[in-house]
Amino acid sequence: MLPATTVSSLPVPRLVVMVGLPGAGKSSYLRSIGAQAISSDAVRLMLADDETDQTINGRVFATVTYLLRQRLELRRPVTYLDATNLVRRDRRGWLQLGREYGARVEALWFDVPLEVCKARNAGRGRVVPEWVLDLMAARFVPPSEAEGFDEVRKCPARGK
Ligand SMILES: Nc1ncnc2c1ncn2[C@@H]1O[C@H](COP(=O)(O)OP(=O)(O)OP(=O)(O)O)[C@@H](O)[C@H]1O
Ligand SMILES: [Mg+2]
Repeated sequence: MLPATTVSSLPVPRLVVMVGLPGAGKSSYLRSIGAQAISSDAVRLMLADDETDQTINGRVFATVTYLLRQRLELRRPVTYLDATNLVRRDRRGWLQLGREYGARVEALWFDVPLEVCKARNAGRGRVVPEWVLDLMAARFVPPSEAEGFDEVRKCPARGK
């Protein structure tokens, strides 16, 4: 535990929560800025040798939470969480976690039309079934400051 005077003089860390459908371009964007993101798909791959395995979600999100805590305890200036985070329930825990560490919690919303997500999804190695994308799009609730984010930004459009 750092003394209170040290903590108060440190810059406020940022926790950036990605929000967007599969194929929206979240991971590509993070790669393009060279961010060392914590990704639920990368954790799935590490734990189950399969980044699509949805049967181990409890372990995946426990591991993601553990990794986020490590970065927040290390007071890294910015931590990106790469997951779809489509509904408030998915996001609530990250907001609480960020608050616990005095972080500024931001949503980075990939506001990409469903048809574009479908086309990009179809053109990559790991294809999410189209009916799953339809279900996810129907459930989607846009992130808002009302739910607790310090800021909600839409990701700048890159390409078509
Ligand atoms: N701005 C863009 N313009 C054109 N193609 C893009 C753009 N962003 C991503 N793509 C392509 O779309 C596909 C999906 O992108 P990506 O894997 O980054 O999506 P994602 O949001 O991380 O999806 P998931 O939630 O399933 O991980 C990739 O093949 C990627 O190359
Ligand atoms: Mg991704």
